[in-house]
Amino acid sequence: MKNYISSGSPKQTENLGRRLGELLCPGDNITLTGEFGSGKTLFTKGIARGIGIIRPEHVNSPSFVIAKEYDGDIKLYHLDLYRLNCTREIEYLGISEYLNGDGVVVIEWAERMKNILPVEYLNINIEITGKNKRRFWCGSHGGRYDNIISRYLV
Ligand SMILES: Nc1ncnc2c1ncn2[C@@H]1O[C@H](COP(=O)(O)OP(=O)(O)OP(=O)(O)O)[C@@H](O)[C@H]1O
Ligand SMILES: [Mg+2]
Repeated sequence: MKNYISSGSPKQTENLGRRLGELLCPGDNITLTGEFGSGKTLFTKGIARGIGIIRPEHVNSPSFVIAKEYDGDIKLYHLDLYRLNCTREIEYLGISEYLNGDGVVVIEWAERMKNILPVEYLNINIEITGKNKRRFWCGSHGGRYDNIISRYLV
């Protein structure tokens, strides 16, 4: 079975995020990897819609803060680790305390925390395959995400 899903436009990417969000529960950890402008933030905005965040349009690149919290049916913790350089910095900021908590956690630039990743998480690696084309590669790390991925990739 292929373990990716394709998008042909920004709108479609947001919809893919929304559909994933609809499958998530509090405590789920999503890590997003992929180069600049691949669509991590747009996908996160879609996830926010899917989990019932009140103002999903407010989800943007958290430029000067590492973590932003959004309220809704389920809370969303949106982390962007781009500016962090080392594992020690990430540990110091207590990033891992967001994990497995009372909301869904979405981490952009999760490459930065590869030494201290959560035990269980769902990674989505976004590949740019054309001007407006993206491929979302899904990787389950921990049994409970196999189930989500199999429902997601239908
Ligand atoms: N199919 C597509 N899916 C997502 N974004 C697309 C697509 N086609 C074009 N784009 C454009 O790519 C950009 C994606 O921006 P976005 O901020 O979501 O990326 P990002 O991965 O979060 O970037 P950064 O690494 O700076 O955090 C937007 O300008 C969007 O319009
Ligand atoms: Mg971003």
